[in-house]
Amino acid sequence: MSSHYVLPTKVPTIVFPGSGDAARHLALMIDSLIRQNSSAGRATVLGLPTGSTPVGLYRELIRLHREAGLDFSRVVTFNLDEYYPMRPDDPHSYRFWMQETFFNHINVPPRNTHVPDGTIRAEDAEEYCQGYEEKIGRAGGIDLQVLGIGRTGHIGFNEPGSARHSRTRLVTLDPVTRRDAAGSFFGEENVPHQALTMGVGTILEARKVVLLAFGEHKAPIVRRAIEGPIGDAVPASYLQQHPDATFLLDRAAATGRAGGVSPLI
Ligand code: F6R
Repeated sequence: MSSHYVLPTKVPTIVFPGSGDAARHLALMIDSLIRQNSSAGRATVLGLPTGSTPVGLYRELIRLHREAGLDFSRVVTFNLDEYYPMRPDDPHSYRFWMQETFFNHINVPPRNTHVPDGTIRAEDAEEYCQGYEEKIGRAGGIDLQVLGIGRTGHIGFNEPGSARHSRTRLVTLDPVTRRDAAGSFFGEENVPHQALTMGVGTILEARKVVLLAFGEHKAPIVRRAIEGPIGDAVPASYLQQHPDATFLLDRAAATGRAGGVSPLI
């Protein structure tokens, strides 16, 4: 097992030598949560992100499914967000990405997976989003919410300005977020301007939250999220108010460089 250390920050933060170590740590946490719940006859409800950050986590969970019999048949998933407008079979959609990266490789029942529907009519968005929240409620609430963090400080697509009590809704993406997504859309002009996202309030209701952040480009915003003032300038800072939130970082995200002393200490 790799060496890791815990930082005395406002949100408990564990720093791993590399992103693969953090991904394996979280995969094992999820593994034991699912096994515990399944042996007690309970479902496990996971809140899930897309993006570059969780790829190693999904790879590790697939490995545990194949090699260690991790059973997803009683797992229910809710994704954080989806671009809007967006068809689920569009290769740019988060639904497509989740299928390709994770769902197609495990035994989660398709009806148990939920990704916001980017094909709804804008005028139906409010009702649809309320329905998404109700589905989370009917599933028993989210046991473990996995998050990434955007360079704007967003969690889900809750960009700066998002309120602490915001719920699932249609939002406008920050220009920085659209720029960061430009590569996968072959140009910023092709990136949708809007998205459906769980709200900050929705995320904070999860019983446990784990945020993953890797790479030195995330270091400045991670630092503001875990040590800076709590408020809508950095929506991830609201996690300081969650009773069971943890950040898992690689060394680069903790230090701002690929080694050396952490500016977080
Ligand atoms: C994606 C999501 C976003 C990403 C964030 C980081 O479902 O909710 O908040 O987690 O933009 O993206 P990556 O991991 O690509 O740096």
